Amino acid sequence: MANILAVGIATLDIINIVYSYPQENEELRAIRQRFSRGGNATNTLVVLSQFGHHCHWAGSWVNEPDGQTILKDLKHYQIDTTWCHIQSQGKVPTSYITINQQNGSRTIVHYRNLPEFNFTDFQKIDLSTLDWLHFEGRNVPETLKMLQKTVTDFPKLPISLEVEKMRQDIEQLYVYANVLLFSKTFVHAYGYHEATSFLQHMHQQLPNTQLFCAWGEQGGYAIDQQGQIYHSPAHQPPQIIDTLGAGDTFNAGVIYSLCQHQATNIALKKACRLAGIKCSQEGFKFKIVPTL
Ligand code: FRU
Repeated sequence: MANILAVGIATLDIINIVYSYPQENEELRAIRQRFSRGGNATNTLVVLSQFGHHCHWAGSWVNEPDGQTILKDLKHYQIDTTWCHIQSQGKVPTSYITINQQNGSRTIVHYRNLPEFNFTDFQKIDLSTLDWLHFEGRNVPETLKMLQKTVTDFPKLPISLEVEKMRQDIEQLYVYANVLLFSKTFVHAYGYHEATSFLQHMHQQLPNTQLFCAWGEQGGYAIDQQGQIYHSPAHQPPQIIDTLGAGDTFNAGVIYSLCQHQATNIALKKACRLAGIKCSQEGFKFKIVPTL
């Protein structure tokens, strides 16, 4: 099993499940509510840990009641938090999420007011035992230093980078990763309507990188180092229940497969299948761990 570190965030997610998505200025009752740990990097780890991988989280954390909820969940999935930065004050980032029961869509209002995990924190980590290192594409100036240090000290350690949102100078990070995981939102914000033309464009600039795009109900796309494009349809569950963290689950599927040195098209297929399975259930806990 692989030793995997993810650098990114953990959040408290306050999730309201509603019968249908509200109008602006409407007042409505939620059908149900749940509180859970969220955050892209930790969502990805929680999925990977269920396949037996040894997962470590590096991020910012605070010892307050919501922070405890997060820690309890990470402990439940045996995710190691040794390398976190424990902030002396503040609150963990919180997301207020509305899930529409009709179609599983998730609308997120996110609030954070906590210092980010930074390069000084990262320097304390022992990277020598890792098989895989995953980054959220955030906090660009600090993440750039983390990436540069990693490729200098451990040039053979595979690195994946999630590129979910447009952030200033984010393209500076690309060259340090072996695998880039783009979101549909990012591709659209970048000015492309189609994943294939976006991937071809990116491949020109990054011919040695495997590039993936999660594409929602249309599955996903990828391009390998030879410039070969792949598409995998979405795995369609009988009912879409909850799409929150589907992209994070897709990323876990890619990492899971590439850790086994499988080819780009296989990784893409497995990622789509895993993301689809996730959408058929609430949260990230698999009743039966899927066979991929
Ligand atoms: C889902 C998610 C939520 C979190 C939000 C942070 O991808 O990680 O769990 O609240 O996004 O942006």
